[in-house]
Amino acid sequence: MEFREDLIDLLRVAGSVVVVTGSGVSAESGVPTFRGEDGLWRRYRAEDLATPQAFSSDPALVWEWYDWRRGIVAKAKPNPAHEVIADMERYYPDFLLVTQNVDGLHRKAGNERMVEIHGNIWRVRCVAELDERFLYDNPLEVIPPKCECGSLLRPAVVWFGESLPFEGLTTASEGIQNCEVFLTVGTSGVVYPVASFPMLAKSSGASVVDINKDATPITSIADHTLMGKAGEILPELWRAIKG
Ligand code: OAD
Repeated sequence: MEFREDLIDLLRVAGSVVVVTGSGVSAESGVPTFRGEDGLWRRYRAEDLATPQAFSSDPALVWEWYDWRRGIVAKAKPNPAHEVIADMERYYPDFLLVTQNVDGLHRKAGNERMVEIHGNIWRVRCVAELDERFLYDNPLEVIPPKCECGSLLRPAVVWFGESLPFEGLTTASEGIQNCEVFLTVGTSGVVYPVASFPMLAKSSGASVVDINKDATPITSIADHTLMGKAGEILPELWRAIKG
């Protein structure tokens, strides 16, 4: 792929970069996306599996679905797109990754300055005591799993109708309002509040770069759109930048 010179210059000299990722960045690692042809929301109803109401009415069903997804994630490895985003953290003096993904693959690739804004599929929260911890058993021995206090454990992820963690959202908003380059990778850009981030970046003066297989609402406001697979485009782009 040919890259515009102004894009290469922009990314080569930028001091502060925020990267926002969605499930498309993990697609080439074998983790299903939510929308699109093979998306999870084509086969399952979010209302039955990813809402607090669904968990109250059938915690075992919700946990079976999460246990199945944890099994997929357990086998997945970071792909070249994750590797480049990890290298970006080492390259840019001021860097922040905001991911909507709960699969933990960015951390496996080496990112540390990151906000997992929708939580992490390996973390659980006691519904009574509200404390969180990692639970790596897969498959789970008992479904639904319980806390030592006897109450249910739930996945520590953000479900539809729930607020995003205040601290993560503040870190993300501050980073976005102060960055020179805002790069989105593999997100449909339709789930709020993350869907509002590209506009926030643009109105704060950042250049918006979007990498996606298909056109999305971000395409219309992006200064640069690179269409194709993240695992192919990002390594090529990174080679061009680092010379
Ligand atoms: P989506 O499934 O909505 O969008 C995935 C995007 O990735 C689409 O725009 C695809 O075109 C693109 N894509 C797929 N494969 C790609 C590849 N190899 N390279 C580049 N792009 C690719 O996933 P998200 O945007 O992450 O929230 O969805 C946002 C939120 O909706 C998720 O965090 C989840 C979901 O419901 C909750 O569960 C709260």
